[in-house]
Amino acid sequence: MTLEAGKPIRVALLGCGTVGTQIARLLTEQADDLAARVGARIDLVGIAVRRPNKHREVPAELLTTDAAALVTRADVDVVVEVIGGIEPTRGWLLDALNAGKSVVTANKALLAEHAGELFEAADRTGADLYFEAAVAGAIPLLRPLRESLAGDRITRVMGIVNGTTNFILSAMDETGAGYGETLDEASRLGYAEADPTADVDGFDAASKAAILASLSFHTRVTAGDVYREGISAVTSADFAAARALGRTIKLLAICERVHTEDGESVAVRVHPAMIPRSHPLAGVSGAFNAVFVEAEAAGQLMFYGQGAGGAPTASAVLGDLVAVARNRVVGGRGPRESAYADLAVRPIAQASTRYHISLDVADRAGVLSAVAAEFAQHEVSIAAVRQEGRANDASLVIVTHSAPDAALRSTVDKVAGLPFVHEVVSVMRVEGEDS
Ligand code: NDP
Ligand code: HSE
Repeated sequence: MTLEAGKPIRVALLGCGTVGTQIARLLTEQADDLAARVGARIDLVGIAVRRPNKHREVPAELLTTDAAALVTRADVDVVVEVIGGIEPTRGWLLDALNAGKSVVTANKALLAEHAGELFEAADRTGADLYFEAAVAGAIPLLRPLRESLAGDRITRVMGIVNGTTNFILSAMDETGAGYGETLDEASRLGYAEADPTADVDGFDAASKAAILASLSFHTRVTAGDVYREGISAVTSADFAAARALGRTIKLLAICERVHTEDGESVAVRVHPAMIPRSHPLAGVSGAFNAVFVEAEAAGQLMFYGQGAGGAPTASAVLGDLVAVARNRVVGGRGPRESAYADLAVRPIAQASTRYHISLDVADRAGVLSAVAAEFAQHEVSIAAVRQEGRANDASLVIVTHSAPDAALRSTVDKVAGLPFVHEVVSVMRVEGEDS
């Protein structure tokens, strides 16, 4: 739909919290520049919030508690959603798209579950659906996947996409402190939310991984398709073990194109993993995000920057807003959903990685060979072994070559049942090294 010459683009903002406040500020402060870049003014015509009395930072006459009415108002061209959550946001954005309004959202939880439904609504009315801020905050990542790399074939995406967990893991690595006390410190400093579950249990990263995989492999992947492990079981002993082998631990989101005899499929997982300290992701500390993309023709690309925060996230939202506003001005449309490849998502049992296994064993003749025999029995190849004696016991660390998750699980179950194995202290995947 082309806009009448000289008419402004009218925007409804849903939410005026950490991100929304910054969007409203930048829309005011940069109004003239944005108008020059778009070819029309961008006017904020309404802001939906829960508690209007709390919002002195925006003009009171713009505020409403009725988001449902705002999104379909005749004087709204674009809806920018920064409330979050799945319901009632899903219904509001469907109503907006069905009414022909373009939508810009930062809502990864919603996109990771309902992108297909939202894109279908956008297609019915020719509206745009943009969501750059939903993954890795300020970092331009989704547009490169959706547009710049549209002529290439992406094979792998691996990255740190959750700032809260990266802050906690970096601090554990630096201080040697345990998970609980580091989480408390992250909460005290405002890095972890009052309820950190979505971050520390990996739900936030799994939503982002689903979005990355969908765009990279032209396949609908939802959060439920993503194998997920959080960071609450990572201990200071794991960090000590990683350090001893020149590694550190990161929560990684990994999306891979897999080729087998059955054809092509995708594997998507989120879990803590040891990576070599020499790996570029090892140097990403604090609340920063970084994502590696591998494509057949482009080779390796790395994206790095602030993955959260009001102003950085608002930057990504405004970039999308300028894009949809330009589309309105010239009568064009941004990229639609691309899910034509429709690849199967492989279960985690079939995913292959290297593993670091730490055991507490009796220090006596035959122990090492009996443990090694179980690995051989399950066709899990050992790459390195390290043993340290402690009185009558020993700490035994085994690093494997790449092995299927199912084979590794069976091996560990068997090893745990051996009479001289006191404890399986930890099992952690190893990434960023040749298999
Ligand atoms: P906040 O909690 O800071 O803000 C949420 C806003 O939504 C508030 O203004 C709140 O109103 C409003 N709101 C909540 N429920 C309703 C409702 N039923 N009707 C109308 N308004 C409502 O969230 P953030 O700004 O941190 O996050 C917003 C979105 O951006 C989420 O999807 C999040 O995942 C995403 N995001 C956030 C990042 C960040 O760093 N914060 C980074 C990347 C993405 P009131 O103020 O009156 O309570
Ligand atoms: N909770 C998220 C994080 C915010 O810690 O990265 C950005 O999506």
